[in-house]
Amino acid sequence: MKDNSIVINLDDIKNGTAEFKKIMLMYNSALKEIETKVNILSDEFQTLYKYNPIEHIKTRVKTPESIIKKMERKGMGVTYNNMVNYINDVAGIRIICSFLPDIYRIVEMFERSEDLKIIEKKDYIKTPKASGYSSFHLIVLVPVTFSNGTVDVKVEIQIRTIAMDFWASLEHKIKYKYENGVPKNISKELISCARMINKLDTKMSKLGEETMKQLTESMEKNEPEQINQIKLIEKLEKVLLMNSEGKKNEIR
Ligand code: GTP
Ligand code: MG
Repeated sequence: MKDNSIVINLDDIKNGTAEFKKIMLMYNSALKEIETKVNILSDEFQTLYKYNPIEHIKTRVKTPESIIKKMERKGMGVTYNNMVNYINDVAGIRIICSFLPDIYRIVEMFERSEDLKIIEKKDYIKTPKASGYSSFHLIVLVPVTFSNGTVDVKVEIQIRTIAMDFWASLEHKIKYKYENGVPKNISKELISCARMINKLDTKMSKLGEETMKQLTESMEKNEPEQINQIKLIEKLEKVLLMNSEGKKNEIR
């Protein structure tokens, strides 16, 4: 494939060329936008239900060396064009949740976000990878506004539980140790560990649901005011949503 775009030169990157800095600023800004969305959701849950579905968030931008290596591995020209168009994980955010259902709550929040465009969705929880790897992946386009205009920036979002993260981190460490691939017996054991992790997550989710149910019941009995407040807030939310829907229709 002939590609006329600007070639990425590792030496230029090391010396910090203006175009590389600008591109990295773009990716870092997109990560900030996504992180803010997740933090808003987390604050909302904390305020309403005194429960935070998010354990922690990690963001990272791939190193120039690793971007170049990936493009070479994929057999594409090492150009800015190819990086922006074909490397989906230059910017990555990992959201670590407490319980399994929290993952789908977060996915729904992204699906409802009108300014985000989901371009790829992979549910490795319903269908884990052959390695045993399990997580929910989204590739999204995030609009980032700079002084000269708005650009859509690609970000990879990985959403997983603490248990899935534990497995993925250790499996990654183990895999890294073997240059010529993980021996069969070890990869079998890793798959078996992944199954245990999955069972553990399901069990913990049931405990989580049970606890929430009991807390709500006891609140209804002992703190009916609190329940009324939640109902009022939910009503208020509906009115706010209807208002903004109405406004949008007026503008259209
Ligand atoms: P690339 O692998 O990035 O070229 O793209 P892809 O479309 O194959 O993406 P995939 O859905 O496989 O997920 C990419 C990311 O998920 C990787 O960069 C890892 O962070 C993570 N991942 C995927 N498979 C595994 C796995 O078997 N073990 C671990 N630890 N992480 C994995
Ligand atoms: Mg892959």
